[in-house]
Amino acid sequence: MKTSNVVTTTIHESASEPEFSQLADRLITRRGFLGASAAFGTAAFVMGTTALTPAALATGSLVGFHAIPASGADTITVPEGYNWDVLLSWGDPLFSKGTPFDHATRGSGESQELAFGDNNDGMSFFPLPNGRAVMAVNNEYANLEWLYPNDIEAKTAEDVRKSKAAHGISVFEVEQRDGKWQVVLDAPRNRRITADTPMEITGPAAGHDLLKTPADPTGTVALGTWNNCGNGKTPWGTYLTCEENFNGYFATDSDYTPTAAQKRYGVKTTDRGTQWYRHDDRFDVAKSPNEPNRFGYIVEINPMDPNSTPMKRTALGRFKHENAEVAVAENGHVVVYLGDDERGEHLYRFVSRDRYTRGNDPANTNLLEHGTLYVARFDYTGDDLSGRGEWLELTFGKNGLTPENGFNSQAEILIHARQAATQVGATTMDRPEWVAAHPNRVEAYCALTNNKNRGVKKNGGGIAQTIGGPNPREKNNYGQIVRWRPDGQDHTAETFSWDLYVMAGNPNVHTDSLYAGSANVNAANMFNSPDGLAFDSDGRLWIQSDGNYGNEGDFAGMGNNQMLCGNPETGEIRRFLTGPIACEITGISFTPDSRTMFVGVQHPGEKKKPSHFPGGGDTVPRSSVVAITKNDGGVIGS
Ligand code: FEO
Ligand code: CA
Ligand code: CA
Repeated sequence: MKTSNVVTTTIHESASEPEFSQLADRLITRRGFLGASAAFGTAAFVMGTTALTPAALATGSLVGFHAIPASGADTITVPEGYNWDVLLSWGDPLFSKGTPFDHATRGSGESQELAFGDNNDGMSFFPLPNGRAVMAVNNEYANLEWLYPNDIEAKTAEDVRKSKAAHGISVFEVEQRDGKWQVVLDAPRNRRITADTPMEITGPAAGHDLLKTPADPTGTVALGTWNNCGNGKTPWGTYLTCEENFNGYFATDSDYTPTAAQKRYGVKTTDRGTQWYRHDDRFDVAKSPNEPNRFGYIVEINPMDPNSTPMKRTALGRFKHENAEVAVAENGHVVVYLGDDERGEHLYRFVSRDRYTRGNDPANTNLLEHGTLYVARFDYTGDDLSGRGEWLELTFGKNGLTPENGFNSQAEILIHARQAATQVGATTMDRPEWVAAHPNRVEAYCALTNNKNRGVKKNGGGIAQTIGGPNPREKNNYGQIVRWRPDGQDHTAETFSWDLYVMAGNPNVHTDSLYAGSANVNAANMFNSPDGLAFDSDGRLWIQSDGNYGNEGDFAGMGNNQMLCGNPETGEIRRFLTGPIACEITGISFTPDSRTMFVGVQHPGEKKKPSHFPGGGDTVPRSSVVAITKNDGGVIGS
């Protein structure tokens, strides 16, 4: 695969706390109107041969590494002065009674229940007083083309057992030995949570008729979680896992027509190949039509207690949850930002009823039980790429959420959050992926990954996906990152200002201002489809891509999926990491000292693409978590 060898980039003058509107103008100045270097007004330098400009050094550069070129190689590449190691891969046992991964059989149901699941995604790192840490890592789905040694048409009960166990969450302890982070087999907190683990449905929708099934007439006990995409971490020490494409696991061989409500969530009579419904009636949508209503939630897990029951928090709404970014507002209320990753769906915010009590974790354990859910409306004028916005409350009796419009209770609003969002006039977005809140400023960012339907097709609620505002491009194939600043520096404020931090694009292929990308995109840092997004404690914005890795046409020069680092103040973006063939880079976590960064490599070699990551040779490609360190022991990205 041809890879880019362009290594020039631009360093930008440091801006000392620019006004938001000025910053927006500078970042999003249309390329055709004002070129990239003109927009940032400064000197170019060549990576690897020239140090940063004196001006940048004098003000202390947030982003200090040398950017790397795009890559099509079947490995991970990191900047000079950095190192990476595999922490663990799909199928690695967490318990000594498990079996090492077998590349011929790819394991059994039993071995998979004792091992790290497939397709790792969001993850969090919880330090322990003894120097170890607990990691909780999502295992989003299974690569069926690799899970079984042969392409299996009809899956047996044993095949389904293995597939269910490859899903869910892996919790395990890690410790540093000889400077390397390693999994501690049989550690007291090691645990697998799978598609069959009992969990409690809690909050305003618990026990509602729509959640009752033949197997659970109470509507309060769900079995399992799956398609766990991004994550969240609460200040009281719990892990949030986010149920995303839960719909694709339901099917039936009976004559059944999905209801309008099921269709809004993508529930059909065919699944995506897992065939769980053939061996477990709750996945047969004709036999258990309410089962899909019990998925699509934020699940809160206590990683310190392997016997604790995961809690499905219905107060945070039901949709295709991407991640759950938690911020404690100045007034003590807990705010959780939530994306619904589907073309033309929405961006949400939860505000807790009660306040966070610092230093008293038991008092905080039910903060996600009661609160108010909101959905975003972005306002704008003409072609403006910045504007104002408002959080619209999704509360029974308000904003038309009444029986006349088909909403009979708060429980129904939460279970059918998408329909409620349509009712109140939320903005249709270009697939909201991860949200990241700045650690030191009251400001949040959301990756809008792409949307081939923008300007072409209505969304699932029959609403036109109008071109404009934070979703400015027709058939958006590159994606963008929107950010907002709540009024009064208060995450609980009802209104905000917004702009775009970056519009991805390809300045080599397009001259058109919109598709070449914003002024902070250039030939050296091109990427498409921003997805994973997280700040480190210094305020570097880490951007992970899940996009087209064909490296041709509109995507020529972008190479494999990658991770970049952005400076929120100047807009500068540098490529930090490139992944192996056909992977997605997703999931990020740090040690508290920011000297180790954990990054997820998901589905290398998907659809039988020629990857053998990480084993090389003839090995089966395996999703993995890698640990990245700096050779001088410094802060990652500095
Ligand atoms: Fe699992 Fe929207 O990514
Ligand atoms: Ca994602
Ligand atoms: Ca994605």
